[in-house]
Amino acid sequence: MKPRTLHDEPLIFERNPERGPRGTFRLPAGEVPPVDPRATLPAEQLREPLDLLPDLGELEVVQHFHRLSQMNFAVDEGLYPLGSCTMKYNPRVCERACRLEGFTEVHPLEPDGHVQGALELMWELERALVAITGMAAVTLQPAAGAHGELTGMLMIRKALAARGDARQAVIIPDSAHGTNPASATFAGYRALEIASGPDGTVDMAALDRMMDETVAGIMLTVPNTLGVFEHRIVEISRLVHERGGYVYLDGANLNAFVGRALPGLMGADALHINLHKTFSTPHGGGGPGAGPVAVSEALVPYLPVPRVVREGDAFRMVWEDERSIGPMRGFYANFLVLVRALAYIRGMGSDGLREMSEAAVLLANLVRRRLEGAYHLQYEAPTLHEVVFDDTFQKEHGVTNIDIAKRLLDHGFHPPTVSFPLIVHGALMIEPTESPSPEEVEAFCEAMLAIAREAAEDPERLRTAPHGTPVRRLDEVAAARSPVLRWRKE
Ligand SMILES: Cc1ncc(COP(=O)(O)O)c(C=O)c1O
Repeated sequence: MKPRTLHDEPLIFERNPERGPRGTFRLPAGEVPPVDPRATLPAEQLREPLDLLPDLGELEVVQHFHRLSQMNFAVDEGLYPLGSCTMKYNPRVCERACRLEGFTEVHPLEPDGHVQGALELMWELERALVAITGMAAVTLQPAAGAHGELTGMLMIRKALAARGDARQAVIIPDSAHGTNPASATFAGYRALEIASGPDGTVDMAALDRMMDETVAGIMLTVPNTLGVFEHRIVEISRLVHERGGYVYLDGANLNAFVGRALPGLMGADALHINLHKTFSTPHGGGGPGAGPVAVSEALVPYLPVPRVVREGDAFRMVWEDERSIGPMRGFYANFLVLVRALAYIRGMGSDGLREMSEAAVLLANLVRRRLEGAYHLQYEAPTLHEVVFDDTFQKEHGVTNIDIAKRLLDHGFHPPTVSFPLIVHGALMIEPTESPSPEEVEAFCEAMLAIAREAAEDPERLRTAPHGTPVRRLDEVAAARSPVLRWRKE
């Protein structure tokens, strides 16, 4: 059985199950007698013989897995405009840099004297992020953006405790990223939601009412999840500081303004940066990513340990500091991600970083300009790195944002983020990033416009999409609640 299209690709177990061993290339038997694992391993660690594996030729196996890989979607394949996730291209040169043996072969338990280059790299990345944010210091420890939020909130908590102030709540706008309330809660605070005004930014009168001596501070996403900048940010910081609170900025969307504005001048006390969203490292929700946190002078004493310090020309790790919140993870950080980030920052330079953010904003505005009118825009405020439309116009024909997303797959594009942020009902959150060519973004817009027309002319075609993918529309609830991840023989 040879599949002609991806749609027919069977499981590897289903390929020629009856066929016996084939005369494919095999290595000759070794001269060293093989060790029988049954002689050395405890019985409970031995698995059943794998007599179910099909006996296939190497090329058949390669073709099978290659076909499976083509069922996936990647930035290397086409536009991936997943708003808030910032699916940008990771330059190959950064991948190359982090594969240098001097980086891959270091062990976290090596003494400082053996790994001076690695410590210097971390120190340099900290300095670069200090310059980019205009803040006083940086910790590289957090493994992801949300982990950075927790780190920042724990520092704020410790700073408040140091002055004997046991505040219990944190104000978070309804336009914040969803991880913000979760992180505040994890740090022991009650999350107080503050509604956005008609322009999608914080309602100052509501903030004035809420910010009292029980509130530890505010967590603001800049630009927020609507792609809108809090233009009264300095005023907001002043009000919070005057009432004894701290300002946490979720700087995950720094890609929208890097090189153009300094969070340090906005009144931030702590701010995390998602290296993957701004500095082109691979994604990693809590895994192989990195979410460094920059802090103001007020929070420097509470930074996590270990910290890299420079003494003359030498570098040293400091593991103990009584005022610190302590370690946020084992060892230093996700080191190879840091190598990529510094390679990217050095490669781009300050002009390159600014141009990168300008290109990201420009392309988001291209999308906005092309799709306005065909898709409904709830907030009129200027668009930065992402634009949030919704399905109000298509709903009139019984078509939802999910149908639109599924139909985009037939046009060869990854769908945008849907149904987030929650304050936009039926949201379609589009973030092209700076990576694609304007022609690619244009082609995406054409596909979106064709879908908008189709919603009026042939809504059923949208409701039953996708039509051209290896698998059709899935039962998403069942897929999430009871995923089948393993093949088992009946
Ligand atoms: C604005 C914002 N804040 C926080 C996060 C959480 O980051 P992470 O997924 O690395 O934990 C994200 C994720 O993309 C984000 O866009």
